[in-house]
Amino acid sequence: MRLTRRQFEAFRNNGFLFLPGRFKVEEVAPLRKEARRIYKLDRPEVWRESSGAARTAFAAHTYSEPFRLLGAHPRLIEPVMQILGGPVYMHQYKVNAKAAFDGDVWQWHQDYGTWKRDDHMPEARAMNIAVFLDEVTAANGPLMFIPGSHKLGVLQAGHDLASTSYPLWTLDRATITRLADEGGIEVPLGPPGSVIMFHGNLVHASPPNISPWNRTIVYLSLCEVSNHIRRFKRPEWIAHRDFTPIVPLNDDCLLSPPVNSPW
Ligand code: SIN
Ligand code: MN
Repeated sequence: MRLTRRQFEAFRNNGFLFLPGRFKVEEVAPLRKEARRIYKLDRPEVWRESSGAARTAFAAHTYSEPFRLLGAHPRLIEPVMQILGGPVYMHQYKVNAKAAFDGDVWQWHQDYGTWKRDDHMPEARAMNIAVFLDEVTAANGPLMFIPGSHKLGVLQAGHDLASTSYPLWTLDRATITRLADEGGIEVPLGPPGSVIMFHGNLVHASPPNISPWNRTIVYLSLCEVSNHIRRFKRPEWIAHRDFTPIVPLNDDCLLSPPVNSPW
C-alpha cells in the first residue's frame, strides 16, 4: 500500500497521518485475543503497571505468530519504506495495553529523543506505525499529538525514571504549553483496525485510562537500515540489534498465514 501524494504531504506537514479502518475486523480480532494471552505471560518482555495490569509487551513479534505476521504486513511496512526512502528494520515492537481502569499515563515525549540518547541512532530516519486493536475513544486514554512539532528537531528533555514503570525522556510543562498554544493538540479516534503513522520527532502523550474499556495499540518502530543504532545499552528486546531488512508478506497474511511459517 503506497500513500497518495496528498497523504504524503499531510504527513510532512503535520508529522502524522491517521488512516481509519485500514484492517478488517476479521484481521484484528485474532490479534486482540492474542494480546490478552500474551499479557498473562510471565516474561521479562511483559511490563506491568504498579497495579500489576500489563502495560506493554515488548518484542511480541519474536514469540507470537500473529504479531510476527503483523510485523511484516505490507500495509504497515510499505508506506514507512516510502516515507523513509529505503529498506527498514524493526527497532522496537510494543503491544501497549492501556488497560481498563489501570492503564497509566505516557508523559509528553518524542520517541527519537530516546532512540538518540539511549541507543545512539544517528538520525530521525525512523518512525512509528501503530494499529488500534480496540476502539480508541476520548474516554480510554487516546494518543495526543502536537501537529507540526516534528519540525523542531530533538527538544531538551529530562530522563523520567519515576512517574511510570517505563523510563522515558520527557518534555517539561513550559515547552508543552508553548508548543500546544501554537500547534494545538489532535487526538485521532477510531475503530479497531485504524492505523496511525507518526514521525520520530512528533511530540505526543496519552492520559491514563480510567474507563471500563481497554485500549490496546500495537506499535512498530521502524528504522531505515543504514541508520541502525550504534549503542547496545538497553535490552535487545527493547532496542533490537537485528538490522535485517523486513521483507513485506502478502496482503492477506493475517487471514491466510504463509505455509512456511516457523511457528
Ligand atoms: C508511546 O508513546 O510510545 C506509547 C503511548 C501510548 O500507547 O499511549
Ligand atoms: Mn512514544
